[in-house]
Amino acid sequence: MSGEDVRPEPQKVISGTTRAAVFVVLTVEPGGEGAVREALGDLAGLVRSLGFRKPGEDLSCVTGIGSTAWDRLFAGPRPAELHPFRELRGARHTAPATLGDVLLHIRAQRLDLCFELAAIVTRRLAGAARVVDETHGFTYFDQRDLLGFVDGTENPLGRAAAEAALIGEEDPEFAGGSYVVVQKYLHDLDAWDGLTVEEQQHVVGRTKLEDIELPDGVQRPDSHVAVNQVLDADGEERQILRANMPFGSVADGRFGTYFIGYCRTPEVTEQMLRNMFLGTDGAPHDRILDFSTAVTGSLFAVPPAGFLDELPPAPGTGNAVRRTAADVPLDSSLRIGSLKPVPK
Ligand code: HEM
Repeated sequence: MSGEDVRPEPQKVISGTTRAAVFVVLTVEPGGEGAVREALGDLAGLVRSLGFRKPGEDLSCVTGIGSTAWDRLFAGPRPAELHPFRELRGARHTAPATLGDVLLHIRAQRLDLCFELAAIVTRRLAGAARVVDETHGFTYFDQRDLLGFVDGTENPLGRAAAEAALIGEEDPEFAGGSYVVVQKYLHDLDAWDGLTVEEQQHVVGRTKLEDIELPDGVQRPDSHVAVNQVLDADGEERQILRANMPFGSVADGRFGTYFIGYCRTPEVTEQMLRNMFLGTDGAPHDRILDFSTAVTGSLFAVPPAGFLDELPPAPGTGNAVRRTAADVPLDSSLRIGSLKPVPK
């Protein structure tokens, strides 16, 4: 797209890096659709209400809706390429498909803000939706993952980020929206630490300390970077916008990367996943998978911001729910210093 970007306002898909993130994946209970719709309509107001009091902390929340949930929640058109996440079974490694109707990708410079928003929303959804995964991500040293490598360097920036991540005229109804794939990976750090730094660099395809891409001839075809270079028919690189975060628990010995990739079409991310798990002409699979196991996998559509403010009718009804700032519920404040009981 050239010139001024005339797409409708997106959700905060494109964001600078933050120090913290909370990823919440929920399933909608049978009969919970109405309450979920109400909560979705309130979300932007809740983010404003919490975030305005903490300027500079960059609180944001991107909401994604899974394929089957979409038809339970909304009548009318659906994002053209929305479908359930497709499991990939390679000769050695599998990318499982796991449950997920709603994704909340909450980011801020402080974990307390992310946590508070997640708490308010899930409390409101009690009985209507069930949390199937909650992951607290953090920024680790200089944007490194727990394998010790800088993660995110080759992300597109500025206009290129919008171009890669946001739906355009190919689906006018959802222009400004996006598709997002999330996967939780657990690292085998004992095996990883058993490699020399040089071997680790061949797995990733970049140097560990300086984060510089290995030159042609040195770069191996099964390195993570090589496998993820996806070209279109004209030889142009196709990009996704990643916002991965490390997470873990020392008590449980869990060390992981929460992969989250936005794209204007799920096809690009899916091609990368096929390369990683099923292999390429030059590689049986992405070598990083010998040290990192995918334990979840879901795909969501991220509608543009205005969609959530003015939801389409629920299936089987003719009633659109219209939301304005004045509709923001009064009980959306932090309960710090309040004697008000927390509703169960
Ligand atoms: C690049 C880590 C999963 C797509 C990178 C880099 C690191 C990394 C360290 C190099 C620096 C950078 O450009 O960001 C990881 C880890 C993962 C993971 C630890 C999980 C265990 C994935 C998945 C995808 C993906 C599942 C796609 C579906 C990419 C892409 C690049 C990249 C497109 C940039 C390649 C280029 O240089 O053009 N990743 N990643 N990553 N990763 Fe991943």
